Formats: sequence, structure tokens, C-alpha cells
Amino acid sequence: MIYETHTHFDDKAFDEDREDAIKAAIAAGVGRFVNVGASMDGCIRSVELAHKYEEFSAAVGVHPEDCKDLTEADMDRLEEMAADEKVVAIGEIGLDYYWDEPERDIQKKWFARQIRLARKVGLPIIVHSRDAAEDTLSIIKNENAAEVGGIIHCFSYPTEVARQYVDMGFYIGIGGVVTFKNGRKLKEVAANIPIESIVVETDSPYMAPVPHRGKRNSSQYLPFIIEEIAKIKGMAPAEVESVTYDNAVRLFGK
Ligand code: NI
Repeated sequence: MIYETHTHFDDKAFDEDREDAIKAAIAAGVGRFVNVGASMDGCIRSVELAHKYEEFSAAVGVHPEDCKDLTEADMDRLEEMAADEKVVAIGEIGLDYYWDEPERDIQKKWFARQIRLARKVGLPIIVHSRDAAEDTLSIIKNENAAEVGGIIHCFSYPTEVARQYVDMGFYIGIGGVVTFKNGRKLKEVAANIPIESIVVETDSPYMAPVPHRGKRNSSQYLPFIIEEIAKIKGMAPAEVESVTYDNAVRLFGK
């Protein structure tokens, strides 16, 4: 069975056919899903999905792009949601310097604050980090995030950065980019870190793998990602599937 560690089935892209898309993913061999919240509303919807489907867990947290108006009252609400038995992580949280907004200081503040929440409730984190390698690493170190561990999702940095996370006990989330012709950097990361530190993800509805690149992504395409990792590492796809499944269970506890 495949463990999908990062999907957004609550996204409006699935409003027309959510049930069918989830069933198609299960039919394609996905046995567990973490539906990841990105906004306060998305967190509520993620927890709802996790209660609707046996195979689902939820992560609750606010994405850097959505952190501008966060308040301490929101942190209290996240903490309440995190007490739900179906919630397995705090995320996605992090830094995204690709866009100018919200200001970097605001992003940093809420990233650090949500790591403190994760440590308080004892859940791992799911980290979104784009064009912010140095600040992400330094906040993770300063806030002692390794105490709870987690996933650096949609990993986009060089191998030496990946190694630093692996050494701290974090997992590297590998998705559709590994199948792209211009995904050489991520292929190198996959080749050079142990399979025991890799988890698979789609980030659907975004980032569809080849041969579906540019279309709506869905968890049913995870086999394309697993096949590519298997090719890179010289392993059988079934072995990649089972090791990455076990990695996710080790992290999330189910
Ligand atoms: Ni995501």
C-alpha cells in the first residue's frame, strides 16, 4: 500500500468529484492519506475529511502565504483541533519567499509560533519552504523542531541541505517534480539520501507528475512518483512503496 503524506482533497478543485477522486486513489493502491490544511478553513475541512474517510488523517496549520492575518486566537483553535485523534501533524507551515507578500518577518513569526505549538502538542511538522533555505533551517534549529521531527515537503533544495535535515531526523517529501525532465536537483537528492528518510506525496491538486504534468493532480498518480524513485535508487517499486509507507507510519504513529 502507498502512504500519501501530502494532499489537499479539501481544495475547491475537487468540488465536482471529490468522492470519485478519493475512490480512484484508493483503487490505485493508496492506503493512507494525510490531508494537509493550509488555511484556518482548510484545517476545518481537513479534519472533516479525516472523520469521513477511515483511510484519512489530517494535518492542521497555516501556510506562509496565508499567515498575514493570523492571531493568537487562531493558535488556540489550532491547538484544539490538534487534540482530535485524527490529527497527526502541524502543517503546512513554513516560509515562501517566492512571493513578496506576506512580509518575511511576519512569515518567520508564524512559522516559529506554529513550531512551538507542535512541540506543545507533541506532533510532527509538515514544512513548506520555497526560496528560503537559510531562514527555514535556522528557525528549525532555533525552535528545536527536531524534538518533534517532520517532513520537509516538496523538497526543492540541493542535496547538502537535504542531508542536514536527514541528520536531524527529518523526512524529505518527494512528489511530482522528481518525474520532470528539469527535476535533476530533486533526482540527485533522491539518489543521495537513504530511502529510510523519504516519504512520497502529491501535493494535489498541484504538481502533477509526468505524464499528467500541467493537469489537476490527484493522489492516484503516486505510482508514477514511486516508479521514478525506484528507477533512481535501483530498487523495485514495491520496495519503495513499502519502505516509504513504513517511514510515514513511524512519523505519524498510524
Ligand atoms: Ni501543500
